Amino acid sequence: MTLDLFSPVKLGSISLKNRMVMAPLTRNRAGAGGVPQAMNVTYYEQRATAGLIVTEATPISDMAHGYPALPGIYTESQVAGWKKVVDAVHAKGGKIVSQIWHVGRISHPSLLPNGILPIAPSAIKPAGQAFTYQGLQDFVTPRALDVSGLPGIVNEYIHATKCALAAGFDGVEIHAANGYLLDQFLRDGSNKRTDNYGGSFENRARLLMEVVKAVVDVAGGDKVGIRISPVNPFNDMYDSNPQALFNYVVESLNQFNLAYLHVVEGGIGGGGAQPFDFVALRKHFKGAYMANLAYDKARGNAAIASGHADVIAYGVPFLANPDLVERYRTNAPLNQADVNTFYGGDEKGYSDYPFLKV
Ligand code: PHB
Repeated sequence: MTLDLFSPVKLGSISLKNRMVMAPLTRNRAGAGGVPQAMNVTYYEQRATAGLIVTEATPISDMAHGYPALPGIYTESQVAGWKKVVDAVHAKGGKIVSQIWHVGRISHPSLLPNGILPIAPSAIKPAGQAFTYQGLQDFVTPRALDVSGLPGIVNEYIHATKCALAAGFDGVEIHAANGYLLDQFLRDGSNKRTDNYGGSFENRARLLMEVVKAVVDVAGGDKVGIRISPVNPFNDMYDSNPQALFNYVVESLNQFNLAYLHVVEGGIGGGGAQPFDFVALRKHFKGAYMANLAYDKARGNAAIASGHADVIAYGVPFLANPDLVERYRTNAPLNQADVNTFYGGDEKGYSDYPFLKV
């Protein structure tokens, strides 16, 4: 029998009823204090027919924020808010993991405690502008993390993982993609350190491996996924040798027996990406592979049938179609996404996309 998007699968200890994953999507609609609120519960519950939901990227501390109205996963009220989301998804037979996130330099003093500088591997200002409560503002030159500050960052990941488990999540996904803190350490355009955390592949991957080990020690590898984006130029990112770097990263991750590897296979937002062989990358990883970026039903099925991917993460299609699984199953037409309501606002363009009429 040929496997397809509708075949069940197990990612580590997480059993999925199908291979369609809702990709993490920033929506900027959390309540005060970064606490998920009623409309967030409705939005995720509506999408519980996905085999797995990966939550929107979720800051692990006050310093991890880089956009307005993000839900956090580090205070008691945030855990209580997420528990309502998780319980609603579970009640509908769905599975959900928390994507744990530190933005590093992709932030702005106005979003951080006491207006302090964002942190990064090196004091290099990214090109571009931050989304702030006062509108778009130029990025600033971040403060390079002192080596003595790194264990504190690892501890934030540990704390967030404990919070996610307390909220009842089926696991966590470590966000190491898209130009945020862990990716800033990996790629040499943003990491110019001369200590044990810069230079060689091993050094640039050191913080990531410390974080993965710490999170796995808390949750168990079978409840931990990781997301990488080897050639995504978004957030002013670049590496001089991405194929060799990420082949190394993936090989090094094998020791942790993770639930899955989630790969953004190119540049998001249509960004021109460097050439990269994702089929070759996949072969370096021993566990399950989640493919993401502009897949549709046909390409998803083809990637699963060929053995390239075990599951496919769909972003915009799930945003606009809460019942995407049923629509793909029946070849029904799709709702079109409204880009004007992607980031911030209320229920409009969030929890009001129509289901198929029955
Ligand atoms: C965004 O808010 O634009 C965003 C957040 C997390 C990502 C990518 C983009 O991984």
